[in-house]
Amino acid sequence: MMRRATVDDAANLAALSIQVWLHTYATQGIRHELSNYVLTELTEVAFASALADPAERFTLYERNGHVLGFIRLKTGSVCPTDPDCTTEIVTLYVQSHFVGQGIGADLLRHALSGCETDSVWLTVYHGNTRAISFYKREGFTSIGSTWFELGTEKHENIIMQKQTVALGHRLH
Ligand SMILES: CC(C)(COP(=O)(O)OP(=O)(O)OC[C@H]1O[C@@H](n2cnc3c(N)ncnc32)[C@H](O)[C@@H]1OP(=O)(O)O)[C@@H](O)C(=O)NCCC(=O)NCCS
Repeated sequence: MMRRATVDDAANLAALSIQVWLHTYATQGIRHELSNYVLTELTEVAFASALADPAERFTLYERNGHVLGFIRLKTGSVCPTDPDCTTEIVTLYVQSHFVGQGIGADLLRHALSGCETDSVWLTVYHGNTRAISFYKREGFTSIGSTWFELGTEKHENIIMQKQTVALGHRLH
């Protein structure tokens, strides 16, 4: 089932994010930049603060009392290559044991059906080809690139966008 997250979910969101992030990006093992990022950015305190922010909306996917994935939307977040697009999909994570079961697509469609904006945007690491093909299949197109700063390193991220007007009209 899917439900809106509350502040009580902060620890689970932090733990799940660290697991998914390291599984996705620490593919050659662990090093300082990776450890520092997850232990300073993906904390319970950081998620508790985001969950309390009215601009943010988190939706969880749960099964048998366990969180399998979540999506995080933020309004008022201006797309670097399209200033009219101000709703960002900050995160879409599914725990690795459960990828490929349609959970990511369910979370995305659920979140977009409750979204009243014309378009949404996100960034994804340029080497994350499976996520990029997933987003393309879900109707996103590439509209530029930006840089993700990891300590002193810079990594290219693709900016993707989806028009949601037609979907919104159909569902409202
Ligand atoms: C990308 C992600 C959210 C997709 O969710 P999902 O529940 O696996 O997706 P669905 O089951 O709805 O769709 C499956 C499709 O997702 C894509 N996909 C992306 N990563 C995948 C993975 N690790 N394993 C399997 N499929 C993956 C594939 O294109 C797959 O299509 P295919 O079955 O034709 O190969 C999820 O795989 C995930 O959390 N990955 C790790 C974190 C990540 O990369 N997040 C996005 C970064 S912005």
